[in-house]
Amino acid sequence: MFDVIIKDASLSYDKKPVFEGLNLTLKGGQWTCLLGGSGVGKTSLLRFIAGLNASSRDASVSGTALCQDGVELNQRIAWMAQQDLLLPWFSVLDNVTLGQRLRSSVFRRQKISPEHLKKAKDILSRVGLSDKEQELPQNLSGGQRQRVALARTLMENRPVVLMDEPFGALDAITRLNLQDLACELLHNRTVLLITHDPLEALRLGHQVYHLQGHPARLTDPIIPPEAIPRSLDDSQLMSLHGQLLERLRHEEAAL
Ligand SMILES: Nc1ncnc2c1ncn2[C@@H]1O[C@H](COP(=O)(O)OP(=O)(O)O)[C@@H](O)[C@H]1O
Ligand SMILES: [Mg+2]
Repeated sequence: MFDVIIKDASLSYDKKPVFEGLNLTLKGGQWTCLLGGSGVGKTSLLRFIAGLNASSRDASVSGTALCQDGVELNQRIAWMAQQDLLLPWFSVLDNVTLGQRLRSSVFRRQKISPEHLKKAKDILSRVGLSDKEQELPQNLSGGQRQRVALARTLMENRPVVLMDEPFGALDAITRLNLQDLACELLHNRTVLLITHDPLEALRLGHQVYHLQGHPARLTDPIIPPEAIPRSLDDSQLMSLHGQLLERLRHEEAAL
């Protein structure tokens, strides 16, 4: 399992620095969680890692995001966003297989290979949506839609998964269920999860970082004990949650 090493990352928009000289290692096969207030630069950092900032006209970027084993990172990344980004006129099955169909020369005929079809059906069954394959997204709940988005992420089968507040719009119970499901299904992948929920970060992160300030910098990581997803009735987790909330409150006040 390879680490992803972000070295000396700097980004500014219109000459205003978002972050400067930032270093971060995503440990192979582990979840790294990143907390931070709105507008601090979380999505920008994710885009930097995915190599997407270069396409922004006013962005000035330097630094590297590389795999420790020297293989190109771009081809190894799947992305999951807060908005499920489902296409409303496609069924659940068609949304899950969208990547394969876009890359396929038979896209116009709306066909996918039998192997991809089987894989999509297997994944939909793992996220508990076998009975919704032919539904349109508009007929699904928010939690079901995000499970489709998770299925589409799994369909890409990439070792590195970048998640930008994927559970942010869900109610508390649905969010817990999806956290558990994502942990199970993304076992052994290298995950960077962005969240503004300290409890979510502490439940899921092998390492938890906080991005703060202008330009933004990373605090030292918190390394919660035990395997993920951590149980909510774990007294150590709850005590860590209290400490982290206090720390975030003081840091925000000091800015
Ligand atoms: N394409 C862009 N052009 C100019 N400014 C941008 C662009 N994208 C983001 N920003 C600015 O960069 C800062 C960080 O944005 P973002 O990374 O989206 O923050 P976060 O995800 O932490 O809420 C914000 O001030 C935002 O307005
Ligand atoms: Mg964001």
